[in-house]
Formats: sequence, C-alpha cells, structure tokens
Amino acid sequence: MKITIDHLISYKKQKQKIVCLTAYSYPIAKILDEICDIILVGDSLGMTIYGFNDTTNVTMEMMINHGKAVTRACQKSLVIVDMPYGSYELSKQKAIDNAKRIIDKTGCDAIKIETGKNIIPIAEFLANNNIPTIAHIGLMPQSVNKIGGYKYQGKDELQAKELIKDAVELEKCGVKAMVIEAVPAILASKITEKIKIPTIGIGASIDCDGQVLVIDDLIGLNQQFKPKFVKNYCEIANIINMAAQEFAKEVRECKFPTNDHLLHHSLILE
Ligand code: KIV
Repeated sequence: MKITIDHLISYKKQKQKIVCLTAYSYPIAKILDEICDIILVGDSLGMTIYGFNDTTNVTMEMMINHGKAVTRACQKSLVIVDMPYGSYELSKQKAIDNAKRIIDKTGCDAIKIETGKNIIPIAEFLANNNIPTIAHIGLMPQSVNKIGGYKYQGKDELQAKELIKDAVELEKCGVKAMVIEAVPAILASKITEKIKIPTIGIGASIDCDGQVLVIDDLIGLNQQFKPKFVKNYCEIANIINMAAQEFAKEVRECKFPTNDHLLHHSLILE
C-alpha cells in the first residue's frame, strides 16, 4: 500500500510514529522503502554526495536526478524532494514552475521548502496551487551562511514564540506536514501539540509525530560532522575501509582474482 499524506495525518491522530530517512540513490531507497513511511531526497545530498560545505550549491538538476533514482525504487513510502536554494525564494512564479518541474520529472509525492517568515507567502501560493508542500522550520540549512553556522534555533522566548506563530500560520496556509530541525525539545513539543498536521523532528523532540535522520549519519558514513542530534546505528565507514584494505592486499599479493572469479574458455589466439 502506497503511503499518502492522508495516512500521515491519521498516524498523527492515532499517535503512530512516522519514520523518515533520507535517500539519494536507487539501492539505498530500495532497502529503506520497506522500512520507512517517508523517504526524503534531501538537499543534504550537497554535502553527503557531492562534498560541498553546505547545501547552497545544490542545483535543480541534482535534485531531479537523485529524485528520479529514489522514486524508481519506492513502491510504498511517500517520497518528498527538497527544493534547492534559489529555486523558490525569489518569486511565486519561479517557485511554482520549479515545484512542478520537480514533481513532473521525478514523480515524487511532495516537495519541501525551508520556510522562514518571508517564505510563508510562497508556501501558501504553492499549497493553493495544489502543490503538496512540506515546510521546514527551526534550523534551516540553506540559511547557514546568514545565521553563522549550524546553530539551535528558538532558544529565547521571543524567537520560540515566533516559531510557534510561523508553524500555526503555515498550517493555515495549507502545508501538509512540517520538518522541525534543531530547536529546544519543549518548543518542538509545543508546536506538535498546537497543529494538526504531522511534525517530523530532527534534533527536536520525542513528542514530534515522527523522526528523520540523514541516512549517512544513521549508518556512520559521515565521519567529519556529527551534530548532537545524530545517532550512528552502525559504522559502515569502518566496514568499507576493511573491505577495501582486504581487496588492496589481495590485489598486491596476486590473490585476487582467483579461478572462481575468472572465465576459463579455450580460444586459439595468435
Ligand atoms: O536535506 C535534508 O536532508 C533535510 C533533513 C535534515 C531534514 O532537510
């Protein structure tokens, strides 16, 4: 059964937690599709796949190509594709053209935008034009250069109240769900309680309606950057390292390939 936004809303009502992970490629999405409710083709791919310092260099083409690979693999999970930096903030028309392009090219179920206060009218415009729109509040990685780093947001009362107001307004505008990143737990709990649409937390609160992690963090592939809210459920980097070391050793010692890996077929060659 394909998961829809209506299912997510009913999960919230029934207090059934929503499971979300990022994926950027077909084989990973294929594994996660069995397990997750939502797969997010996050613009975190700028860092995880392309090695940029932040997400601001991610392009529409990157999101579309990785989005296509992921939707091809997913039969069950709801697939959300991030709109990259510069593709939606400048005008409503540009936002809708790019949102439609992502949906048409990838076949994803929804798009996600980082919704600071100034972006709320854009979110409303997209939602009013039948674009299934997911908001992202709190720490917004596309603004990392503006806010001076990956810092928790909503730490003072004024900022926290503003974020609650934004969340309520975004719900009224018609956004379908909301990612809340890196805010105090009490604030994310309050937002989750105040709105009827599902909240998906990352560094937010156990009370959020669901949780999301970046797949590279989950599997311990990213060894450079480890925010407080990341949990490595395994250390895949060590496994890759061991396998590659073993391969290198066997190649250098002429132990690989063995006869089992070769085709022995009689040919007459000059
Ligand atoms: O781009 C991304 O992976 C995200 C998650 C951190 C929520 O937006």
